[in-house]
Amino acid sequence: MATTAEYNLGEYPFPRGWFMIAETSEIIQKPLAIRYFGQEMVIYRGNSGRVVVIDAYCPHMGAHIAKNTTSYVVLDGEHIEGDSIRCPYHGWKFSPDGNCEDIPYSPAPIPPKACVKSWPVVERYGCVYMWHDPEGGEPDYDVPDLPEWEDTDWVRWKIDHLGELDCHPVEIIDNMADKAHFSPIHGSSGIEHFENSFDGHIVVQDFAAGHRTLASSALLKTRTWYTGPAILRSRMDGDHPSIIQIAHTPIDDGRIKVWHALLVRSADADDRERGVMAARAYQEASRLALMQDFEIWTHKRPCTQHLKVIGDGPFGKLRTWYKQFYTTREKGAKLQAKANGHVVTKGTKRDPWPEKT
Ligand code: FES
Ligand SMILES: [Fe+2]
Repeated sequence: MATTAEYNLGEYPFPRGWFMIAETSEIIQKPLAIRYFGQEMVIYRGNSGRVVVIDAYCPHMGAHIAKNTTSYVVLDGEHIEGDSIRCPYHGWKFSPDGNCEDIPYSPAPIPPKACVKSWPVVERYGCVYMWHDPEGGEPDYDVPDLPEWEDTDWVRWKIDHLGELDCHPVEIIDNMADKAHFSPIHGSSGIEHFENSFDGHIVVQDFAAGHRTLASSALLKTRTWYTGPAILRSRMDGDHPSIIQIAHTPIDDGRIKVWHALLVRSADADDRERGVMAARAYQEASRLALMQDFEIWTHKRPCTQHLKVIGDGPFGKLRTWYKQFYTTREKGAKLQAKANGHVVTKGTKRDPWPEKT
């Protein structure tokens, strides 16, 4: 494991952007303790259904706002009131924006410092995403949309919780430029096209190749993109159009949590149940392909510097693009300008991995 500073990514240990932090069904009207970005936080669903994320520690005397089972605030069902939450220690109540709105025993006005930090949260496609920003700014782009979510021809994904990985997220990002791992790790053969496009906070990988075991002789074409530093989507057309989501979020500097999901166009429009079963099998195949990367990430040492050869993709440019999230917006804009553009990684005389015939 190495840290952001050891990779020389920027002055902030954690990047700016939207991050998945939970699956929708996990968040109920009971506060949960979560840890991301090296901080203890509390997540809960207010009575209106709104999901709220605030700092875990009460400004009064530092009690953990979620971790309690014995206070009468909790026992009497007063932990969550409307979309607000009460601290179990002395009952101070905080709004979803983190401002204290009630100190039940004090006649004095509420002091301005009586507030907890609150983070912007959206709930979409079965996922809860939060905006993390070391500068404390508002989101400057949206969570990537997914119009197919509302389309009944598509089977909605179920979230695969892949757990925690002692690995800096930059190692996961490297995959976007990693042309040469496709044959040994994923079984691709005869890579016909590998192109990366960098545009502001988005990086795209266009890929076309055959596969050593898939029966079809047709080229597998995928378009994969990151919207910001931590939400990957990948679209594959063909017989079973599908959209992957891979999301990874720092827990601490050099440690991440990872989720996978796959939305599939139903293969069997007449039989919903069969269509769902086929989609689940397809998602499992996709998860297993990701686990092939996962095994490498689990055991590798940090790559702070690539030993790059012809035939490798644009790792340097990709890391320049990724650095924009670890610094101020002002410096990030300069890194964006430096990264913007297209790179086609050409094949070499020798296919990156000996073809099996
Ligand atoms: S520590 Fe939270 S109300 Fe006192
Ligand atoms: Fe991969």
